[in-house]
Amino acid sequence: MDKIVIEGGMPLKGSVRISGSKNAALPIITACLLTGGWHKLSNIPRLKDIETVKSIMSKMGVHFREEAGYLEVNSDNLRDFEAPYDLVKTMRASILLLGPILARYGKARISLPGGCAIGARPVNLHLKALTEMGAVIELDHGYINAYAGKLRGCEIFFDIPTVTGTENLLMAAVTARGKTVLRNAAKEPEVKDLASMLRAMGADIEGDGTDTIVINGVDNLRPAEYSVMPDRIEAGTFMIAGVITRGEIEIHNCCSEHLGALIEKLESAGAFMRLTSDGFLVKGPDVIESVDIRTMPFPGFPTDLQAQFMALMSVASGWSMIRESVFENRFIHVSELRRLGAEIDINGNQALIKGKESLFSAPVMATDLRASASLILAGLVAEGGRTEVHRIYHLDRGYEALEKKFASLGASIWREKV
Ligand code: EPZ
Repeated sequence: MDKIVIEGGMPLKGSVRISGSKNAALPIITACLLTGGWHKLSNIPRLKDIETVKSIMSKMGVHFREEAGYLEVNSDNLRDFEAPYDLVKTMRASILLLGPILARYGKARISLPGGCAIGARPVNLHLKALTEMGAVIELDHGYINAYAGKLRGCEIFFDIPTVTGTENLLMAAVTARGKTVLRNAAKEPEVKDLASMLRAMGADIEGDGTDTIVINGVDNLRPAEYSVMPDRIEAGTFMIAGVITRGEIEIHNCCSEHLGALIEKLESAGAFMRLTSDGFLVKGPDVIESVDIRTMPFPGFPTDLQAQFMALMSVASGWSMIRESVFENRFIHVSELRRLGAEIDINGNQALIKGKESLFSAPVMATDLRASASLILAGLVAEGGRTEVHRIYHLDRGYEALEKKFASLGASIWREKV
């Protein structure tokens, strides 16, 4: 178990390059199951979750090669259709194996992903939609057993815009018989990135990025070469870091249209933001204004940046309200922020934050991926010594060498073995 140690108080200065998107890379890697041959993927981030999905797929018989910055994937010899509990429990996104395996092989046995710290995380909408496409799905001792002849296209309406649900159904529909229409589909950029990869494989998809996606089934797909989009949540984390430390950083390799809601809120908080040729220049204000946010599906404020924004509001100049509308339990970072001196009251899915002049260093414990980032941001400005963030295996699931990137911007931060 490692911990990250931070000596706060340094304004961040310099430039940082954003890695490939975890939440785009995961479905793009599982989409390689849809056809044989060697797929060639680039800008894949070096993360625990990527290693997890590769180990599950390797156990099924998929071959991976890494060379010259490419990840090559070949599923010609897939021999097993089971994603076991002991691996799925470490990464819920394993549910993204269900759609492609069912579409290609007609059967799949995927451990039902349990809940996690931020919520129950059901997959009922995935299963309901696949059933409407003709799959027979049984739940058996914690596993999803799914069988299907050729899946048939149909009209599907998602009760809630689900990101991985939309992605699973995209992968299931690309070789289904006839036309599939996904209504109330998720509009996240990661969904668009998957659709672009599927089109590179020969799929017929229109409307990705809107709430209605039309897929016309094709008979054959081919292996593709594809570069994954940059990680907008990592980019947003660094933008908030530049503001909270009152620094000035240039963030390379990120897209403004992926972060419109955050940009608007950071400008309201007093930050200076300027677009550059491949990203942003972010300059923190002397006084951080308090700003209310409500998390929503894209293009609303991303729930994956809520914990990081709360750290920022903890040192803003007044009261702010944060409403978490996507997940039912995504305030677990609050108790740890309070240990650093933050004044936060929770009432259901609303958190009322009273901004403080300063936070104070203390040992804290990460509880989930984005909470880890929130505690590191708070540690970067905490006074009076060293902040230690424990259980940072959560962080390593979704951020590539985050402490090294912060250190390159002048932060006094390092990793220690516990
Ligand atoms: C994806 O999770 C992301 N993960 C999450 O990022 C992100 O927070 C989330 O989308 C929302 O943007 C990946 O892409 C791998 P949802 P996902 O299905 O697809 C409910 C991170 O930190 N729901 O869009 O699991 C659900 O409970 C992670 O990188 C159902 O009720 O989220 C939630 O309230 C955390 N039934 C809402 O919909 C279902 O069948 C949105 O969830 C599916 C979802």
